[in-house]
Order: sequence, then C-alpha cells, then structure tokens
Amino acid sequence: MARNKIALIGSGMIGGTLAHMIGLKDLGDVVLFDIAEGIPQGKGLDIAQSSPVDGFDSRLTGVNDYAGIEGADVCIVTAGVPRKPGMSRDDLLGINLKVMEQVGAGLKKYAPKAFVICITNPLDAMVWALQKFSGLPKTHVVGMAGVLDSARFRYFLAEEFKVSVEDVTAFVLGGHGDSMVPMIRYSTVSGIPLPDLVKMGWTSKEKLDQIVQRTRDGGAEIVGLLKTGSAYYAPAASAIQMAESYLKDKKRVLPCAAHLSGQYGVKGTYVGVPVVIGAGGVERIIEIDLNKSEQKMFDSSVATVQGLTEACVKIAPQLA
Ligand code: APR
Repeated sequence: MARNKIALIGSGMIGGTLAHMIGLKDLGDVVLFDIAEGIPQGKGLDIAQSSPVDGFDSRLTGVNDYAGIEGADVCIVTAGVPRKPGMSRDDLLGINLKVMEQVGAGLKKYAPKAFVICITNPLDAMVWALQKFSGLPKTHVVGMAGVLDSARFRYFLAEEFKVSVEDVTAFVLGGHGDSMVPMIRYSTVSGIPLPDLVKMGWTSKEKLDQIVQRTRDGGAEIVGLLKTGSAYYAPAASAIQMAESYLKDKKRVLPCAAHLSGQYGVKGTYVGVPVVIGAGGVERIIEIDLNKSEQKMFDSSVATVQGLTEACVKIAPQLA
C-alpha cells in the first residue's frame, strides 16, 4: 500500500514543525509548499537528513508550485502572516484572505479529495473562506483551534491540580482565542467535573476564572514572549492529532472549527464544536446541551465570527 501523502501549505514555523512531527510519527510522505523559494526545500532536506537517526522512512520534499501537492490525502494550511506583538488575529484578516484565495485555487486543482485542516488566523473566518474558495466538501475542510485551546486549558488545569495532563479532559466551544467558550462542567479530572473539584476544595472559582482567562489569552502570551512570531509547537501537535484521526479512521471526538448547517441554531458559519473525525472527514457534529450562560457566551462568540466573515465578504464579494 502506498504511503499517505501529506501536503503542508506554508513552510514557516508551524509548517516545519508539522513536517518534523509527521516524520517522527511515520504518518506518511510530506510535501512542503511555500511561496518563499528554498525554504520548503531546505526544511525538507534538513528533516530528511534526521530520518536515519530517528528511523523513519517518510520522504520529504519541498516545492514552490502547487502541482507538487497533487493527489495529497491531507493538506494542512498555515500559509499567511502570523501575529506580531500588538496585532490581533483580526488584523491579519485582509492579508490572509488573499492567501486563502490562492490556496483554495491550488487545492481545487490539485487536491480536491484531500482532508484539509486550516490553521491560518483569524481561524474561523479563514477556514470558512478557504472552503468557499476551494469548493471542497464541507466535511473535508476543518479548522484547528479547539484542540489547541483545550490543550492549553488542560495544561493549566493539570498544573493547578498537580496531576498528569493525561487525566485532565477539557472542552471548549466557539471561536478561537478571545471568544472561546470554556465548558467548565464538561471538563474533568478523570471524570470528576471541575465544579465538583471546586466543591472538594481542589481549587476555587476565582482560580478557575483566572485559568480560563489565561487560556483565552494563550496565543497572545506566547506572542508577547517570542516577540517575532506566534506559537508553533502546540498548534502543530494539535493539527497532527486531527490528521491522524482522519488517516487512521480513529473517530476521535475533537473540538474543531466545523461548518454548521443548523446545529446549535447556526447556519453557514464555521465555529468550534465537538466533532467526530474519521475516514469520512467530519463524520458527526455533536450537539450538547448548553445552559443559559454557556449559550450566551456561545452566541456572542458566533456573532464575533460572523462579524469577521462579513468583513471578508466586503473585501471579496464573491464569498457572499
Ligand atoms: N502562499 C503560500 N505560502 C505563503 C503565502 C502564500 N500566498 N504567503 C505567505 N506564505 C508563507 C510564508 O512564506 C511563510 O513561510 O507562509 C509561511 C508562514 O509561516 P510563518 O510566518 O512562520 O508563520 P507560522 O508561525 O507558521 O503561522 C502560520 O498560523 O497560527 C497561525 O497566526 C498564524 O496565520 C498564521 C499561521
């Protein structure tokens, strides 16, 4: 059986990390694509030269032409400009929308059967635009945000409780970052929901609120520290988990930016919800009951995302 082909559109910090992780996990052959000449080729060669040491057989190549991604099984999109200190994800909108138009055309022509994971920010609007520009099925175009937001949440909770990150499950809904909706009562330590842990004296409501805020600001905290770019290790790891679930038909339940067609009362918008990812792409969107305050936060998050998609339509009217 031929190895999977995984195309990385964008070979910057996240793209390079993705390529390395795919090699280490032996998930398939990698094609790195970028408009910058030499970068995808150089990163591909560097990682390929680590393969004898780490013992993987993935072939890594770098290209500057979309023809190189032909027939890819999975495409992970990071092409675009990342945040600089003081920039919001939304400042990136106009620049990255144009990039999505080019990427969409490349996917449509060379990889129409791929499962596409978008990482480029502002995420929820970019994945929506990418699906429209590419015309690929909505089940096969998803955004990576929830896995990262919930990983950040899990990490901070594990630190607070001094337990293994493996035993902390966390759940987030809504848009990426500032408008994220943490689902406190669905987040647990080995099945014990967070509100019960407050009652048990493991933490306080105030401390939980601080952790939620730190999770929301998780991306900005890293930007502030790095100064020259944004996070890349955790975003790459999160996208790999989604790609692996598709390629191995694992049917993981993961929070992803998915196209809603009436679920949660939302139509025609991409927003973070729990989905099942398997060989069919997004095989199921899970609709959970929201209480009043969760619904309010979710609605306001959806409104924020819709504001961004409307801004996209102003720039590119063909998206309407
Ligand atoms: N087509 C293809 N690649 C492009 C294009 C384009 N039109 N425009 C820019 N790129 C490439 C750049 O040359 C660069 O190599 O995209 C790459 C982006 O890499 P980085 O600048 O290192 O950014 P990275 O940290 O990888 O983040 C990428 O993910 O989390 C989001 O906000 C982040 O939108 C940003 C994206």
